[in-house]
Amino acid sequence: MSIIFHESTKVFHLYNKHVSYIMDVLPNGQISQIYYGRKLRDRSDFAHLQDSTCRPCSSWPLPELPNFSLEFTRQDYPGFGTTDFRQPAYEVLQANGSHITDFRYTGHRIYAGKPELPGLPHAYVEQDSEADTLEIDLKDQLTGVEMTLLYTIYNRLNAIARSVRFVNRGAETVKLDRAMSMSVDFPDHNFEWMQFSGAWARERAPKVRPLEMGVTAVESMRGCSSAHQNPFVILKRPETTEGSGEAYGFTFVYSGNFLAMAEVDTYDVTRFSMGINPREFSWKLSPGAEFQAPEVLLTYGNTGLNGLSQTLHTLLRTRVARGPWRDKARPVLLNNWEATGMEFTEEDVLKIARKGAEVGVELFVLDDGWFGKRTEFSGLGDWYADTAKLPGGVKGLADKINALGMKFGIWIEPEMVNEDSDLYRAHPEYALCTPDRRKSLGRNQLVLDFSNPEVVDCIYDQLVKSFDGADISYIKWDMNRSITECYSSHWPADQQGEVYHRYILGVYSLYEKLLAKYPDLLFESCASGGSRFDAGMLYYAPQAWCSDDTDAAERVRIQYGSSYGYPVCSWGAHVSVCPNQQLGRVTPLETRANVAYFGAFGYEMDLNALSDKEIEQVKGQVAFMKAHRELFQFGTFYRIRDPFANDKAAWMVVSQDQREAIVGLYQLMNNVNNGYTQLPLQGLDPKLDYQVDGNEVYGGDELMHYGLMPQDTSSHPMMGLFSPDRKPDITGDYDSHLYHLIAK
Ligand code: DGJ
Repeated sequence: MSIIFHESTKVFHLYNKHVSYIMDVLPNGQISQIYYGRKLRDRSDFAHLQDSTCRPCSSWPLPELPNFSLEFTRQDYPGFGTTDFRQPAYEVLQANGSHITDFRYTGHRIYAGKPELPGLPHAYVEQDSEADTLEIDLKDQLTGVEMTLLYTIYNRLNAIARSVRFVNRGAETVKLDRAMSMSVDFPDHNFEWMQFSGAWARERAPKVRPLEMGVTAVESMRGCSSAHQNPFVILKRPETTEGSGEAYGFTFVYSGNFLAMAEVDTYDVTRFSMGINPREFSWKLSPGAEFQAPEVLLTYGNTGLNGLSQTLHTLLRTRVARGPWRDKARPVLLNNWEATGMEFTEEDVLKIARKGAEVGVELFVLDDGWFGKRTEFSGLGDWYADTAKLPGGVKGLADKINALGMKFGIWIEPEMVNEDSDLYRAHPEYALCTPDRRKSLGRNQLVLDFSNPEVVDCIYDQLVKSFDGADISYIKWDMNRSITECYSSHWPADQQGEVYHRYILGVYSLYEKLLAKYPDLLFESCASGGSRFDAGMLYYAPQAWCSDDTDAAERVRIQYGSSYGYPVCSWGAHVSVCPNQQLGRVTPLETRANVAYFGAFGYEMDLNALSDKEIEQVKGQVAFMKAHRELFQFGTFYRIRDPFANDKAAWMVVSQDQREAIVGLYQLMNNVNNGYTQLPLQGLDPKLDYQVDGNEVYGGDELMHYGLMPQDTSSHPMMGLFSPDRKPDITGDYDSHLYHLIAK
């Protein structure tokens, strides 16, 4: 058991080989936060770690203890208004208008395993022996509301899952105005805050800044986790690098509005909290009702950012993602979107698919345009095949694709509706909008009210009818606009604060229904590229379209940023045409593939437009990916050289047995006669010798401690300095090289 409770001191100690998380029960019955970090030996009393020096001008909640104030006490799930003035984790609004509560410890349970969170994505265990769970109960006597704090610590992974459940056991209805999933107080603020920010086509760029007194936060109010801010934050020590030092990760397993916040108080205590964004959130708790908040995964490591990322990769890949595709190398796919847009005939599509079959593609994906009377202004909501485009319906095309020896996949955007659609004409009330007010459009579409189960059922029924009998292996689930005017005609006035959350629960429920009906489906989630790229989505869809930006140089940055929190196999990465459709940039076909191999690999183009020579190259790429995809997608990933800070970037994957590795080196901008490019590799076995690209053999120690020395034109100008048998590995802008290392 990796959770100890000391009855005499009421200390809870959660630990595994690497980490300790320690709390106790405070004099007022709340739960304290004593320590979270590198493992400590257990003892029955850790009270001395809680600095309780009385501070001037503070107030105290217990008359008999004037030295005890919540203002200077570290807590694990704090409230507001009873001597703590910092950001609270929860707020319960009562009938008399007050938010003041007094939750006190009433008991706890410790058990092996991890509970399910009904209706919500969450990390799981396959055997109860993998993790232990602590549930701490607290009760507010006056209202009868009970709060249960849930903590699961994994034995082998440096991870703790946290969430909270509220149950109203009183007689009066209350409202939860805030229910963050977790809060933790650290005794210092010697941290750098690392967030992953961007916008459409430039998602998840790391941004780092020191924490200072006051609030640092990222959030989304778009109804989805968003391309703008990701629900994943790292707190790292200033000296922490990729290879060494302490870092804490916080991953929200949720896809809707969120808030992640660090508040440094005047005594240098850092309070970090994460959960559903309290803005526009309010949940009615009638007598007997309960509310389960989504889960946050806390990860910790003292081996640098690469180590923290690797913990997250394993955790998300093996204990959040589910289903038959979880551990399987992903099929090489070909998608028609950048080739045809919405305008195509079945023959156009088949022509592209035939070329795909010729180069060895395994899965053909039909993107937007196949249904209803689809134009950029119409059709969404009508999930029946447009027989002008697909005369034999979805099944007709699927059969033809299957006959080419490929699996068939299809695009949907089930959460949306165009005003010009049969669905909207029949059910305008199915769209989210405020009564008697204007409706804002995004991409000419409205958002369906997925908080209403009837709407979810209607879309499900339509999809199942269209897909009936067709052999569909893959679905790309898109979502192309943020929610505005979030009002549901299905819910009464006093429950409108629930709509954003109920909406995302509706999205999850449609995923569950489709997965129950088609358990072997591979889902790829998508939201104008990476606008809903989060751990919640991974529970249903083990891969996500990382970005609409398919330019190879930009993708190096986007995939590099994504790798901090998400595993390689979780992002779709495709080779597309040049000039690139988003940037107009021309990059070598080889580089486009060298970037996309590190991902769920595919092509997004009309392969018929390529020359015979290029087609031969593509055949080679597909064969290469098939031969090495386990290594790319499930190997241990290391960031080696940062594309946000350098003209050259590099990353690598290493096999579990450390006998094979592939290093990707990318030249973003060439330069001439510069210093040497030294690439200190990671994760190799120092005792082994590795042959690089079938040529020279170097020691693993040498490759890691000195580094690989690429032959490039920035240290050697191109003119004749290389001997004929030693060509430069990289030359001009956007060139790249994959180094294949095999232990001898
Ligand atoms: C946005 C997606 O990110 C694209 O890949 C494509 O599926 C379009 N939507 C289709 O409308």
